Amino acid sequence: MFATTTLADEILELKAQRRAVILAHHYQESEIQELADVIGDSLELARKAREFSGDVIAFCGVWFMAETAKVLNPGRTVVVPDREAGCSLVDCCSAEAVREFRARHPEYAIVSYINTSIEVKAESDILCTSRNAVKIVNSIPAEQPVLFLPDSNLGKYVQRETGRTNMQIWQGTCIVHATFPARRLAEAKVAHPQAVVVAHPECGEAVLAMADYIGSTSALIDYCVASEAREFIVMTESGVHHSLSRLAPGKQFYYVANENCNCSECPYMKMNSLEKLRDCLRTLEPRVEIAPDVMARARAPLERMLAVK
Ligand code: 13P
Ligand code: SF4
Repeated sequence: MFATTTLADEILELKAQRRAVILAHHYQESEIQELADVIGDSLELARKAREFSGDVIAFCGVWFMAETAKVLNPGRTVVVPDREAGCSLVDCCSAEAVREFRARHPEYAIVSYINTSIEVKAESDILCTSRNAVKIVNSIPAEQPVLFLPDSNLGKYVQRETGRTNMQIWQGTCIVHATFPARRLAEAKVAHPQAVVVAHPECGEAVLAMADYIGSTSALIDYCVASEAREFIVMTESGVHHSLSRLAPGKQFYYVANENCNCSECPYMKMNSLEKLRDCLRTLEPRVEIAPDVMARARAPLERMLAVK
């Protein structure tokens, strides 16, 4: 019998040669998550990015997440399997629009969700992720007005949780979470009356109103694993099933499809593949490059976020 080299073997060999670490977001294909050194949500991956030694970070997620990893690891090469792995939230907020807002309203604290371009981060006072958004907004003096950008659903959720009235919210949305129909969730609740509903705060208000628990991607996974319930309707990207099925093998998880694609997948996250991961480790392209001044200006709000405990 001849041994055959699989794509996974090739990736592991290149990873060793390049002294690379593979970071994967929960929304990646299972086969990518299986090869990752760390699987996490955007906050965990931002933190973990700098805990590893080595020369290369192969970031299996979307581009803005890899930019964040680069800011925290300026001396390392950061590659992403597919340069087109973007995000609808990034696309709906330009740095120029944020600069215009700042010029008109200098008194505002600008809180930017991590799902923004590096140029928008550079214009911001502090960043947040879905995991720490409430805490970050609460860390801003109550009398200072806040601009929260760009996710309107997360912004409204934060506003409800903090009770903050001096807060303006950008009108961006996630094409995945914002399009889960409340009607389909209601149908799923009828079909699975024992199921607990967990939802990502990027979902619309009507969906969040039906949720028993709201949290970031990893927080949802942790909640389902720790809960005594046996069935869950999971209102986020179905890539989380990789960790849920591994960490809570006896439990049942149901996903609700959105109207656009009849699935619950992020088309950007799913652009990455094992072949493209192998190729980016081989060629070190596509590679994240950030102008030094933008990098320095984006690092300040990022470090401010990471310092909030
Ligand atoms: P997390 O912070 O939960 O990883 O969310 C990132 C994201 O893009 C959700 O759509
Ligand atoms: Fe962006 Fe939504 Fe995809 Fe997350 S799921 S990366 S917010 S488009």
